[in-house]
Amino acid sequence: MSSIHNDDPNPNQEPTHEADVPPDPIFVIHRAAMREMDEPRDGAEPTPVSYILLCFAALMWGGWYIGTYAGTWSADGLAERATAGAAITAPAQNPMELGKEVFGVCVQCHQENGRGVPENYPPLAGSEYVLGDKRKLAALVLRGLGGDVTVAGKHFNSQMPAWDNRDDEEIAAVLTYIRNSWGNKADPLSKEFVAAVRKETEGKGEWRPASLDAFAATPPPAAPVAAPPTAATPQAQTK
Ligand code: HEC
Repeated sequence: MSSIHNDDPNPNQEPTHEADVPPDPIFVIHRAAMREMDEPRDGAEPTPVSYILLCFAALMWGGWYIGTYAGTWSADGLAERATAGAAITAPAQNPMELGKEVFGVCVQCHQENGRGVPENYPPLAGSEYVLGDKRKLAALVLRGLGGDVTVAGKHFNSQMPAWDNRDDEEIAAVLTYIRNSWGNKADPLSKEFVAAVRKETEGKGEWRPASLDAFAATPPPAAPVAAPPTAATPQAQTK
């Protein structure tokens, strides 16, 4: 600054001689930075074609993979018994096996041994509901039951939820299973039969024992699966 120091080649500038003043660290840093080569800049160069192609190929492969392995996009699309391809993966499942599997949802109340829980859950073993009229049985399990029922001589007064969220094959299998377990012996139900009862009881809420009896007493509508008209029908009309 002062004109006395005329050895400074540029007296108007701030003294930068290392000897004079310790250099401000900011200059040191900057000088080092200026000395280096420019950092290569990202983002300005064109995307390589090979990279675009690679992304495209990955997308195509992903689409193919999902298309091939996502099943039918439905919740049970990957279920073993999925309708498409069922013939290849699972040949028609034995109804007793499938029935046992479905019975897993009944176990908590009716118990593994089918004896139920005294006072709370009626038995299925030796039950007249299970061994009796198939149409009544399917109707009750599909639509639920509540109220005072007598099963194998014992009273129960509780609620059973409807099982109409299960498909016809599952209902047919579980009913066939309970009709043929724990010493029970009765003929099986077909899924077509269950489908017919499901249709017939569409919109019917939970049964009461009386409404269920009344339903069972009415003849099923004429349908391919319905029993052919018996002698009981003309009799009922004449009397
Ligand atoms: C949450 C407990 C519960 C579950 C789970 C349940 N039930 Fe029931 N079930 C009952 C109750 C309670 C009754 C009696 C209802 C009443 O008191 O009116 C009953 C009655 C029945 C009856 C008629 C009475 C008898 O004992 O024979 C059948 C048949 C039956 N259930 C079958 C099934 C089947 C099949 C399943 C599985 C798909 C099932 N239940 C799951 C509680 C249950």
